[in-house]
Amino acid sequence: MTRDPSSVDELAEGLRSVGYLPAGETALVSFLAARLGKPVLVEGPAGVGKTELAKALSKYLGRELVRLQCYEGLDEAKSLYEWNYRKQLLRIQTEAGDAGWDAVQDDIFGEEFLLARPLLTAISSKQPVVLLIDEIDKTDQEFEAMLLELLSDFQITIPELGRIEARTHPVVLLTSNNSRELTEALKRRCLYLWLDYPSVEHELQIVRMHSPELPETVARKLVEVVAMVRELDLKKPPSIAESIDWARALVLLGAEDIDQATFRETLSVIVKHRTDLDTVAERVGLRLEPARAA
Ligand SMILES: Nc1ncnc2c1ncn2[C@@H]1O[C@H](COP(=O)(O)OP(=O)(O)OP(=O)(O)O)[C@@H](O)[C@H]1O
Ligand SMILES: [Mg+2]
Repeated sequence: MTRDPSSVDELAEGLRSVGYLPAGETALVSFLAARLGKPVLVEGPAGVGKTELAKALSKYLGRELVRLQCYEGLDEAKSLYEWNYRKQLLRIQTEAGDAGWDAVQDDIFGEEFLLARPLLTAISSKQPVVLLIDEIDKTDQEFEAMLLELLSDFQITIPELGRIEARTHPVVLLTSNNSRELTEALKRRCLYLWLDYPSVEHELQIVRMHSPELPETVARKLVEVVAMVRELDLKKPPSIAESIDWARALVLLGAEDIDQATFRETLSVIVKHRTDLDTVAERVGLRLEPARAA
């Protein structure tokens, strides 16, 4: 069953019901995206819930998630469609004797010989889907240009077949880590959502939701320490994903406090660069209380 939320609050509640705690403008922008039929460009540092938002929307809206993971060199054949050459060849071989080339040609460029990749799948789906174009900044500008037709008109042109228009309107999310600046043309077609590291209170809720077994006092200390660590000038500041991992690790270890010893032992769950480890141990570790004598 697909859902069509009638207000921002309803959508926010829906996201919470599937385990995603929206902050700031998240629910508002998602609501507008669903209602206006505009794609959303979600930007922000690693691990702040960009991909997860698309998954949560798909779950809550009751729409299938179609995901295109981008990478350098991604092309149309892997993102849009490809002709199924083997099947075409087989058809040519079976028909070669009787029919002329014209007849065979008409035949082998039909939908039956098309391999749909995520973008075509999303556009041609009978049921409305959530389309996640993940890490769009990893592709090159040619790929972005190709996406423009899709994002503004929700259609794809296949030379041999003609235009394929969307049967239903997908909710589209594009995510980016900002590894390169995206083109103005792309940005113009999208709504924009900036996801940042969460506030202490918001992160506390997220951590508690993912690790309800962790005592509240420890969870609070955890998010406060993580916030301190993020203040430092690190190569890679810890993300929400790492806070959640840390909480799980502390539950497993049965930690009842984050003192200097616990911090030192588990630091590598949240900090993952040699030089960062030293900085954090020195600047944050020493500010924690020494371990209590048993
Ligand atoms: N608002 C939130 N509510 C609940 N869980 C969240 C929230 N934000 C992030 N998380 C959790 O944090 C983890 C990381 O999120 P996600 O993978 O979406 O990050 P990302 O922004 O896509 O990162 P990357 O840029 O590295 O791909 C997920 O496991 C998700 O469960
Ligand atoms: Mg992601």
